[in-house]
Amino acid sequence: MRLFVAISFTKEIKEKLVELQNKLKSEGVKGNYSYPENIHITLAFIGETDRVTEARKCVAAAGGSPFDISVSGTGYFGSIFWAGIEKNPNLENLAYDIRNALISKGFKIDDKPFKPHITLIREASKKARADISRCEMKVDEIKLMKSERINGRLTYTCIYSKKLENIL
Ligand code: 2AM
Repeated sequence: MRLFVAISFTKEIKEKLVELQNKLKSEGVKGNYSYPENIHITLAFIGETDRVTEARKCVAAAGGSPFDISVSGTGYFGSIFWAGIEKNPNLENLAYDIRNALISKGFKIDDKPFKPHITLIREASKKARADISRCEMKVDEIKLMKSERINGRLTYTCIYSKKLENIL
């Protein structure tokens, strides 16, 4: 199955992100808009594998205390429109810890540098300006996600989640 490791968002932040998508729709931007339930940040993209138990162990081994992130700013990678995350060493450390754990277990993960972002539109028909007011969220859980098409619809399902606990 096709796997990735992700952080998902609170209902409040998703609503703000959907508002931003609606603003772009109203400005005539066509494209493949992410479904609200699919909105996330990818920490590590594993891709096709049948080694689910090993992948799960790598996520389970990731640690550290919960921390805050701030959603802020928007941009484009080519025709992908995204909302950004403010630079955050805790988030970077978490992503690289998981990636290193996966690499050490022989997973051929996507090793592009980590650029935390929230994909909101793929194949955007044009570049319109739209911004989001800064909002904060606590990260206290990381998820191993399965990606598949069900009746043609891109569907992400959490197959394992790991709670970040306060380290005293
Ligand atoms: P994206 O949001 O920038 O498209 C599930 O496919 C998630 O894994 C998406 O969030 C996607 O990032 C991310 N991802 C990272 N590398 C990928 C790759 N090589 N192929 C597909 N998805 C990838």
